[in-house]
Amino acid sequence: MRVIFLGPPGAGKGTQARILHERFGLETISTGDLLRENFARGTALGKEAEGYMQRGQLVPDDLVTGMIEHELEHTPDGFVMDGFPRTVAQAQALDALLARRGTPLDAAIYFKGRRSALVARLAARWTNPRTGRTYNTLTDPPKVPGIDDQDGGPLVQREDDRPETVAKRLEVYERQTRPLVDYYRKAGKLVEVDALADVNAVSERIAAALGAQEAAS
Ligand code: AP5
Repeated sequence: MRVIFLGPPGAGKGTQARILHERFGLETISTGDLLRENFARGTALGKEAEGYMQRGQLVPDDLVTGMIEHELEHTPDGFVMDGFPRTVAQAQALDALLARRGTPLDAAIYFKGRRSALVARLAARWTNPRTGRTYNTLTDPPKVPGIDDQDGGPLVQREDDRPETVAKRLEVYERQTRPLVDYYRKAGKLVEVDALADVNAVSERIAAALGAQEAAS
């Protein structure tokens, strides 16, 4: 299956992409993680992207689309994309890339959630920068504060989770990414999920929707 995750910051896209990977072995492509990795390695792309990310803005389409094109060369036919596309231009570029491979998109999962709840989630998020595993001090705290239960590595708070940057990211989402809801609805690929439901309820809803999609194809 080829699936994209669409939704505002903090909606749980990364959390559910990890669950889909663990349950079904679906390859995950996360543009946020790839850009942070590039930044940590000091690549030209990472250096170019850094300022945009720190300000809560989108990295320019040509940079991100080029990165995805390269990534798809090493990705099997089935995948979940977390954080791409984020503009109509990116969605059109993805459609063209997949058409060239003869492997069209199956579903766009749209995570719907109230802004105030998402802001609170991001303020409580702690991440293992090595593995991308996230915790939440309100709903899913680590056993020892600041330490990953799984590998004992340190947990950090993302720089772009500061309240003023979160406000900017939400505004950018409304203006530049939300139009994709209509884009995928018109294409008959949109599946809505309640992002504020419990983590397990969200993953069951996604698994059921993808199962139904697969049965229909
Ligand atoms: P990116 O890293 O993609 O950030 P984002 O889309 O803003 O999403 P987040 O990672 O903040 O949230 P999430 O939905 O993954 O939530 P999570 O699962 O962690 O992008 C960062 C930046 O990179 C962008 O601002 C931009 O600059 C750049 N960028 C990336 N892609 C780009 C693109 N395509 N084009 C241009 N620029 C791009 O969950 C959040 C918290 O809630 C966690 O603590 C988690 O434990 C908790 N949680 C999750 N689900 C639940 C639940 N159901 N109930 C309770 N708690 C939950």
